[in-house]
Amino acid sequence: MQRDDYLPKEAEIIEVIQETGSNLNIKTFHLRLKGNEKVFDFEPGQFLMLTVYGVGEAPFGLASSPSDKDKIVISVKETGKVTAALHELTVGDEVGLRGPYGNSFPVEEHKEQELVFISGGIGLAPLRSAIDYVLDPGNRENYGRVQMLQAFRSPEDMLYDYDQPRWEETTNTELKYTIDKPCEEWEHCVGFPHNLIKDEIECLTSGIKYYVCGPPIMIKSVINELLDIGVKPEDIITTLEMRMSCGLGKCGKCNIGPHYVCKDGPVFSYQELLEMPDEY
Ligand SMILES: Cc1cc2nc3c(=O)[nH]c(=O)nc-3n(C[C@H](O)[C@H](O)[C@H](O)COP(=O)(O)OP(=O)(O)OC[C@H]3O[C@@H](n4cnc5c(N)ncnc54)[C@H](O)[C@@H]3O)c2cc1C
Ligand code: FES
Repeated sequence: MQRDDYLPKEAEIIEVIQETGSNLNIKTFHLRLKGNEKVFDFEPGQFLMLTVYGVGEAPFGLASSPSDKDKIVISVKETGKVTAALHELTVGDEVGLRGPYGNSFPVEEHKEQELVFISGGIGLAPLRSAIDYVLDPGNRENYGRVQMLQAFRSPEDMLYDYDQPRWEETTNTELKYTIDKPCEEWEHCVGFPHNLIKDEIECLTSGIKYYVCGPPIMIKSVINELLDIGVKPEDIITTLEMRMSCGLGKCGKCNIGPHYVCKDGPVFSYQELLEMPDEY
């Protein structure tokens, strides 16, 4: 370990996007490292530790594609002390960044395969990095068909509406949205994602990898549905969110049995989770 592993780099907020219009408060922050430093190399699925000075530090998944070298993007749901303080910040304010940490989505391993991305709410944030990477014109031909099912509580809770035209227009890509309850002028699906998989996703039991991110209950029900269809546990990829402190595999705060989620995760296949103690 280097002596400065715990020392955050200074970054400036260059844009803040209010994503949600409901009381589920989610904002996207675009950040730039100070001193004209280029964005560090990272892989989709990795996270960073962000410091709000004088308040505290918290982990957030990187939400941009590694090919975007201009800015670092995170999307943050207001839940408590650090996230509320971050939501108060605006363009020109400074934060501290450490990372990137953790393993990554196996998008390199899954070249030539079809991919399905199923997200619930803020779970779309880390997946956005993988989606943008796979749909990048320089990478698109390396993958088969891409299907997405994005679930939100209501139309006001939808994330990244500015990305949707770009995603929808990419060749061989299908994007479906669902909300929990019917509402006027909503023309897409209604219902929880696990109940829609059979009808809305063309599922195959081989040649497709399934990426699932969202609240624990959504992940559990989607995985159960996929297993029911006959998808193999090793073809299902998900992420774990444990409380974290160091992010470096040193403090032991995030361990599940012998595994540190900050270092060995946060990305795991369902097969790997089956082999771990049920402590998550
Ligand atoms: C690897 C990783 C990636 C993450 N990526 C994102 C992201 O992209 N966007 C995002 O909005 N959030 C993300 N989170 C969750 C985020 O780190 C927490 O919401 C944040 O730490 C809360 O800090 P706080 O001080 O605002 O809340 P606190 O005041 O510490 O807690 C508020 C409430 O949230 C609960 N909570 C806090 N942290 C967690 C956690 N890790 N898991 C479950 N419950 C928790 C607490 O129990 C409490 O009920 C990620 C977490 C991890 C581990
Ligand atoms: S957060 Fe310290 S070991 Fe994982």
